[in-house]
Amino acid sequence: MEKRLHNKVALVTGGAAGIGAAIVRRFVAEGARVLVGDRDQPQGDALCAQLGETAVFQGVDVADAISFAAAIQRAVDLWGGLDILVNNAGIALPASSVEDTNLDQFEQLVDVNLRSVFLGCKFAHPHLKASRGCVLNISSMAGVTGQERHAIYGATKGAVNALTKCAAVDWGRDGIRINALCPAGVWTQTLRTWMKMQPDAEGIDAYLKQIHALGYCPEPEEIASVAAFLCSDEAKFITGCLMPVSGGSECGYNVHAPVTLADPHS
Ligand SMILES: NC(=O)c1ccc[n+]([C@@H]2O[C@H](COP(=O)([O-])OP(=O)(O)OC[C@H]3O[C@@H](n4cnc5c(N)ncnc54)[C@H](O)[C@@H]3O)[C@@H](O)[C@H]2O)c1
Repeated sequence: MEKRLHNKVALVTGGAAGIGAAIVRRFVAEGARVLVGDRDQPQGDALCAQLGETAVFQGVDVADAISFAAAIQRAVDLWGGLDILVNNAGIALPASSVEDTNLDQFEQLVDVNLRSVFLGCKFAHPHLKASRGCVLNISSMAGVTGQERHAIYGATKGAVNALTKCAAVDWGRDGIRINALCPAGVWTQTLRTWMKMQPDAEGIDAYLKQIHALGYCPEPEEIASVAAFLCSDEAKFITGCLMPVSGGSECGYNVHAPVTLADPHS
């Protein structure tokens, strides 16, 4: 049986670590050639060295227009086109409420999480139109349901969700699909860093089980398998979808959390 992404050309931003690295591994296993776009060159090089010539590292800052445009052009120069853009790079920290977020933090979250998605979609559009390709935005349930002390992060993800739906309407006629995948928690470095910032780090494990109706916090591979499906022809009639990959967290996100989270005033 032919692999689901046989000969497809993909750019995965934030592909050096976490969810992005799991998507890179899965896409390569499914037959794709993948440009690993990240600002972390050592980690990106190490990943590509494990995967062989179908994964190539490209240094990129997704918040920078020139840098992002160059990354898309690199994929086209290397492999003759672009079939899939995964806008995965994102930051969640600092995690705080509106009144505790300063202007620099606001701008950083908006630039890395939202401006980047606009830039990627804009620059990839002509290539995706030529290939009748697709975009997958790695969003968050925090942009659907809201999350305690993640006001600006949640706002950027909510905006990504709205952009996804609006672009799906515009791009249907070009044969381009665009979807958003919404996890709740996922065991990555970002989550582990946030956990260490909490006063009851051990209790966070119980908290993460509590917020997912299925009773556990997933590994990045459980997100990557859904990403591969959404970017394959098996999902060819799915566009504008905000796909929860969240263990049912939205059925009662962060309700009755068994631990106390960090107080930013203390
Ligand atoms: N981990 C979770 O619990 C979780 C939950 C919901 C949504 N998400 C979303 O999933 C995506 C990936 O998160 P993760 O947990 O895997 O993060 P991570 O911190 O483990 O990895 C993120 C990667 O993105 C790269 N990156 C960050 N800023 C960049 C920039 N400006 N330009 C290029 N690369 C950049 C980092 O170097 C890193 O390799 C994010 O968009 C995040 O918001 C994560």
